[in-house]
Amino acid sequence: MTHRFALRGLLFCATLALPCALAAADPSATDDTHRDAFQQIDWPMVPEAQRASIVRGRSLVRQTWVIAPSLDPDIAGLGPTYNRPACISCHPRNGRGEPPASPEEPMRSMLVRLSVPGRAPDGGPVPEPVYGDQLNEFGVPGVPGEGEATIEWLTHEVTLGDGTPVELRRPRIAFRRLAHGPLAAGTMTSARVAPPLFGVGLLEAVPESDLLAIAAEQKKSGRGIAGQPNRVWDIARNRAVIGRFGHKANQPTVRQQIAAALAGDMGITSSLFPAANCPPAQTACAAVRDTHPELADDALDAMTRYHHALAVPAARRQDAAQVRHGRRLFARAGCDGCHRPSLRTGRFPDFPALENRLIHPYTDLLLHDMGAGLADGRPDFEAGGRQWRTAPLWGLGLLATVNEHATLLHDGRARSALEAILWHDGEARRSRDAVRRMTRREREALIAFLHSL
Ligand code: HEC
Ligand code: HEC
Repeated sequence: MTHRFALRGLLFCATLALPCALAAADPSATDDTHRDAFQQIDWPMVPEAQRASIVRGRSLVRQTWVIAPSLDPDIAGLGPTYNRPACISCHPRNGRGEPPASPEEPMRSMLVRLSVPGRAPDGGPVPEPVYGDQLNEFGVPGVPGEGEATIEWLTHEVTLGDGTPVELRRPRIAFRRLAHGPLAAGTMTSARVAPPLFGVGLLEAVPESDLLAIAAEQKKSGRGIAGQPNRVWDIARNRAVIGRFGHKANQPTVRQQIAAALAGDMGITSSLFPAANCPPAQTACAAVRDTHPELADDALDAMTRYHHALAVPAARRQDAAQVRHGRRLFARAGCDGCHRPSLRTGRFPDFPALENRLIHPYTDLLLHDMGAGLADGRPDFEAGGRQWRTAPLWGLGLLATVNEHATLLHDGRARSALEAILWHDGEARRSRDAVRRMTRREREALIAFLHSL
């Protein structure tokens, strides 16, 4: 599989008048285009000695955790409060979550972050005093779940330059069955769907200096694009570093992102997050006596390594005329200012196979002001209420196959790539307007290109 792709990459360079650096397929990308496309492991690059740990990491990511005590300590520790019992409840087939269609439906694969104004000692958001920094719907027996968040969709119509109407929807978040009374006055909320899991190792391996250079270049270019790195607290290194993961680039490393998910989404403690997620007012929660940390370091390392070893889906149909046309329109509309087609990884001692690779993630990992329409109004470390991390576009065209939906953007409001583009504003306003002015044929080519990724 791997070699076939390397060959296809070469042929592709030879037949196109594109710079090879742009066109070359990543030799370790997967050409699986089926439902399991986001779950392929790039085995040839995995050292023999790490294979067992990656298989274990995969089981830990896939398994459903249970409430302690259990005969099998490897799967115990869920709660006292939590959102879902498995990583893949929110990241089905390592893919993306989907928002509920109506206020009657529960949130199955998304979560709502909560905070009050100010900054915590680590520079991050200040948790809501009674509910913490995330609403956890469920509790173990004897511990009440914190409550439920619901989404109601409000729609409006926009008209493209050629007269085509497009309906857009935006969420209105509400809360019900709050177990400990109303949220504190001034509580800020941020509803976020789970993004796909593949490719995060490669993104972690991009040198900080390259991201800073991209930010400097954007500022200088005068195209109205001015990405900014988030600066977040790296617990293991005990210092602030550039954030990369989460919709506001609010986590620094894959390992910390996973540990934060275990703690925040599932109530499982680890050496990075050793304290149970029980704000003092939640007395029943605080009274639960578990062993802490619930997850050993070697298990966290195995989960991290599994993410590092996941293959990225290769782009498809790159030599089709319509896709090539779409690629040119993508550049002409300035989409590539933020959605950078290529980045290069640098040194990465944690998983050397990811070093010095040319990758095609279509992101700059920087934060951009995306306007009032997309704003959550909730700062997250250095990220402001209108800023979001440029979403990587690799794998976009396989979403409908893997997850049987194609909802996009941080809260899943967009039901198609076109809707996602029409929500772009702020620094991306010019790009959005360019798409609004396109003819139907151009629009279709642009979308065909996005779906080829
Ligand atoms: C309740 C739903 C939910 C569960 C359960 C969950 N996640 Fe997530 N995951 C999310 C959301 C939402 C985000 C984006 C978070 C943000 O923006 O702060 C995310 C982000 C991530 C990312 C970063 C992806 C990126 O592109 O930035 C990784 C990696 C990840 N989760 C892994 C895991 C693992 C591993 C587990 C299990 C230990 C897990 N998640 C459990 C919802 C969930
Ligand atoms: C100023 C930077 C910027 C420009 C320019 C830009 N984007 Fe984006 N794009 C973003 C950010 C930031 C997000 C994530 C927004 C969110 O989650 O709410 C995003 C999200 C998307 C998404 C949804 C992806 C997902 O996984 O949810 C698509 C599709 C997309 N952009 C396509 C385009 C296209 C096509 C263009 C050009 C017409 C473009 N973008 C121009 C910054 C930009």
